[in-house]
Amino acid sequence: MSSLSLDRKAASGVLMRMESEGGGRLDQWMRQASARLESADRRRVHAVVYGIQRHKGELALYLAPFLGRPLDQQDPEVRVALLIGSFELLFQDSVPDRAAVHQAVELIKFLKMPRRSGLINAVLRRVARGEEEPTFPDRATSPLGWAEQAASHPSWLVSMMAARVGPSEAADWAEAANAEPTLAIRLKDADDTEVIEALGAVASPFVPGAWLVPERPPGPFAELPGFADGRWWVQDVAAQAVGGMLGLEPGMRVLDACAAPGGKTAAAALEVGPSGRVVAVDRPGKRLELLSGSMQRLGFDHVEIVGRDLLSEPWEGDTFDAVLLDAPCSGLGVIRRHPEIRWTRLRQDTLKQGARQRSLLDSVLPAVNPGGALIYSVCTFAPAETDKVVEAFTAAHPEWSLADPRALSRPPHEDLLDGSVLRTYPHRHDADAFFGVRLER
Ligand SMILES: C[S@@+](CC[C@H](N)C(=O)[O-])C[C@H]1O[C@@H](n2cnc3c(N)ncnc32)[C@H](O)[C@@H]1O
Repeated sequence: MSSLSLDRKAASGVLMRMESEGGGRLDQWMRQASARLESADRRRVHAVVYGIQRHKGELALYLAPFLGRPLDQQDPEVRVALLIGSFELLFQDSVPDRAAVHQAVELIKFLKMPRRSGLINAVLRRVARGEEEPTFPDRATSPLGWAEQAASHPSWLVSMMAARVGPSEAADWAEAANAEPTLAIRLKDADDTEVIEALGAVASPFVPGAWLVPERPPGPFAELPGFADGRWWVQDVAAQAVGGMLGLEPGMRVLDACAAPGGKTAAAALEVGPSGRVVAVDRPGKRLELLSGSMQRLGFDHVEIVGRDLLSEPWEGDTFDAVLLDAPCSGLGVIRRHPEIRWTRLRQDTLKQGARQRSLLDSVLPAVNPGGALIYSVCTFAPAETDKVVEAFTAAHPEWSLADPRALSRPPHEDLLDGSVLRTYPHRHDADAFFGVRLER
């Protein structure tokens, strides 16, 4: 019988699935793989699978001197065993070296490639001994090389980051994108000191109303103080800043066009209050059910939920004071929470996303009332999904232009603004990299 530990079995199952199916549904596969595990094992699976996504490029450089062929040309089973083994050797002090090597050998047998045990054993022993360690580019003089090799970001992504903030900041950004994000929340009652104290929350210096929880207590959210009673919800600081671009006041009517799982819907519901109206639209399905559950938990019964595919059925009917299109995108700005995105996306994906975002903008346009505003946001910084989408939209609809959010009664913090555009960054704001604009006629 195999002496492979349950957590490594589960982690290798997820990584093998990524090998065969791409990484598009990593969250879901993780849930399936760890459903029957004890919570300590579940945490270990998470640490290994996500840690490997954060450090894959770097691990490949450690392994390269001992492999005849590069890691990406090895059999998937060999790659997975070497990645888990080398990750444990280099990043997990709690795992003794002997155990890491032994378990990787057990793993390759479990994956039905016992003849590769010798290779796995020999390579990992050499990594453990620190033979031929790679030398990384100097961060000060070659920040882009450093971001690529030491912070494991593909070069096309590093170039895109550098085009936005310059080379030296791109290295800071890549480093911050590799860290676990700080839990950020929004309180239903802004003065809920009981929850603030119980969670040890501190106010975000950039977004009023956003609270950071630097020492996240262990366990699922549902077990943290006040969550089940609907006293707060999870929402990144950047997403909260986007909500501010809507300029909502009590009694206003809002359409949240791509609403699920509903963080921005909840913020809108809170701000317009029971005298206002929030219509939350998304494609019918599981995500919309999640949104519905959250609204119930939070007691926001003035939110109407509509299942609709806005591409095949553009909006018709009522109009709104503010329409938010928080569009589906490549997700390049949420690499802190989805570290696999850097490996599963390609530059050309951002072009396809841009075309869809443009169509969605046209689909929601009929929902904006004559004096109303259209807010466009995405959790990416790719030009094709951000500035280019807005340029194409305003070229096709010259009566629309960017409004300066400084004119709002509660304007965003100046550090989040680039001209009239909201841009947030992990290394500057401890936030996801979001893009947001307010368009007015
Ligand atoms: C970035 S997420 C929205 C996040 C959400 N606004 C929040 O703050 O929780 C994009 C959403 O767009 C939805 N979506 C994608 N294509 C759509 C379409 N054709 N019609 C309606 N919704 C769509 C996805 O289901 C997804 O929930």
